[in-house]
This record gives sequence, structure tokens and C-alpha cells, in this order.
Amino acid sequence: MKTIDLRSDTVTLPTDEMIDAIVAAHKAGRFGDDVSGEDEVVNELQEKAARILGKEAALLVTSGTQGNLTSLFAQTTRGDEIVVDEQSHCYVFEGGAMASFGGLYPRPVRGVRGYITPEILRNSINSDDPHYARTSMVVVENTHNYAGGIVVRPEQVSALAEAAHEKGLKVHCDGARLFNAAVALGIPARNLVQDVDSVMVCLSKGLSAPVGSIVAGTKEFIHEAHRIRKRMGGGMRQAGIIAAPGIIALEKMVTRLKEDHSNARLLYDRLSKIPSVVVEEPPETNILFIRLDKMNIDAMKFSEELKKRGVLVYGEYGTRIRFVTHRMVNREDMFRAAQAVEDVAKSV
Ligand SMILES: Cc1ncc(COP(=O)(O)O)c(C=O)c1O
Repeated sequence: MKTIDLRSDTVTLPTDEMIDAIVAAHKAGRFGDDVSGEDEVVNELQEKAARILGKEAALLVTSGTQGNLTSLFAQTTRGDEIVVDEQSHCYVFEGGAMASFGGLYPRPVRGVRGYITPEILRNSINSDDPHYARTSMVVVENTHNYAGGIVVRPEQVSALAEAAHEKGLKVHCDGARLFNAAVALGIPARNLVQDVDSVMVCLSKGLSAPVGSIVAGTKEFIHEAHRIRKRMGGGMRQAGIIAAPGIIALEKMVTRLKEDHSNARLLYDRLSKIPSVVVEEPPETNILFIRLDKMNIDAMKFSEELKKRGVLVYGEYGTRIRFVTHRMVNREDMFRAAQAVEDVAKSV
């Protein structure tokens, strides 16, 4: 029986078209040394990504984490304070890298469903006094993973950016799943990032590319980001092998994300019918959390029980379990996954 892997959209395998694109680019002699800017496919991807995101320039990086760090380091100075949601990826899930590699001091604040309101931001900016670290940036995560794939609306991004810019702060968007947000709202992705200074998007999540993320912003920012990427060991050579699937990801894989969203909604509907399971917010995109508060079992044990029934989830969230839909699962799998949850819930 098929294993239903709902751990993350990062488990998506490249499509045949992506593999064909690598071979075609190779046969056409388009690969080169990207550290010298000589890989035509990387250049094409970067130009395309910049256009799609409405920014002057873009840069291919190895991962979302590297993209976030590159963006932060390119726009701040060691010792600066960065305002982040307390459940944001760059604060919780990046191994403390902004502090350990960049000397940056995170200022975690409690956002509203992951969103740092202008008021929360204003209350978190240190005054210009040598006792305090200089607050120089705020990060907006869109969609917000830990809050449940929540979409931050364009007007929310604009309001936050206005408050930040008024005080001289930069705004970085961790848009690992920015295209999920755009598809959910039915708007171009660029509308979500027009007011931010830098944005990172992942090609390797729901868009199914095997590797890679993009950072985008002004030409000046990308010039600096290029230097930082190299410093962090992210200078790649024939990176067109990564860029070729990335181009397909941007061209062909965005609109289908709505299928992932409707599967998440279907899963939500089924899980909501199980009395002992507390389902958090109805999913806006492809992420959904349940809580196990009403049951005498923790998430780790629950996920082990689900695994025995052919359903994979991450159980590292205490009493919360995350389900992520993506291209490798279908409607039928949602029914089976919900049934497995019900079976485990009944057995404890
Ligand atoms: C919101 C968010 N930002 C950044 C990342 C980091 O991406 P990567 O795993 O490619 O480093 C992730 C990965 O899951 C994420 O969910």
C-alpha cells in the first residue's frame, strides 16, 4: 500500500519535465561556472524570478535557510537586533544561525497568527540609545508555517513595511511558500512583496524542484547578497542543473498549488468529524495542524502509530501534529489519512 507522506512539501520529487530540462540544457551547452556568472540557465532563472517577484534582481541560493541568512546579513551589521515572530522559521528552525554566523540578535515577539502588527513592531524597536542593540530589521513569514500555513495579506505586509521604514528598519519576507499565499488569494506573488526590501522563495517545496531557493530585491542588495552567499560557501559551479528544474517550477508548478490547498481543506473536513481531535484553523493553504489535548498521547507517539498505518507526519511539535499536502498526495490519500487518525484516536 502507498505510504502517504504528509511530513512536508519538501518531499516532492522533481517532475519528468524537470529532469528533461536538465538534459536539454546540458545538450545545448548552456551550463557554465556560475561563480563567474557564466551559467546561462542560472541567469535565465534569476531574471525570470526577479520579474515574477517584481524586483530588480534575484540570486539562486542553495536553500531557504541560506536565502534567509543571506538576506539578513546583506542588510544588517553584527550586533543589530532583528524583530521576528516567536514561531518564525528563521528564529525557531534555523539552528540559531542568525546569531551564530551573523552576530545578529533576534527579538522574538508574539505575532497575531504569526503576523507582527505595526503596533507590535513599534513596541519592539529599541530607542537610539547605546544601552540597546540597534533594531534594524523585521521579518515577515508568508505563508506562516507554524501558525498553520496562514496567509499574510498584501495590506498587512504594506502596513508592517510602512511602520518599519518609518523607523529606518529593513523588511525581509521569508516567502518559502509565498506562491501558496499568492495562489490562495488569487493575486500575483509580486503584490505580496512590493513593499519589502528582500524576499526569499523556495523552489524546492510545493513547487517540486529538487534543490534551491531564490532571493530577490534591488540590484544593490543582490550585489551584496552575492558576496555573502560566496562567504557562506554557497557559490556553486554548474548550478544550471538546479536552475533548469527551478525554471519549470516557476513556469508550471505554481497554479497547481490550489489542488494542494483543496486537499488540505478536504483533510480538515474529515478530521473535524473526529470528536477527540482538535483541528486548528481551517487551512488557507497546504498546512494544517491538529492538537491532541483531549487525548492521553503525545505527538511523537501519535505519529509513530500513524506510521504503522502508512501515514507519515512530523511528531516534533509536542501535542500538535502538522499535515502538509503537496503534489505527491491526492484526494484519496486524504480519506485514508483521516481514517488512520481516527483509528489511532480511538485506540488511545
Ligand atoms: C517558512 C520557512 N522558511 C524557511 C525554510 C527553510 O528552507 P530550507 O529547508 O530550504 O532551508 C522553511 C523550510 O521548511 C520554511 O518552512
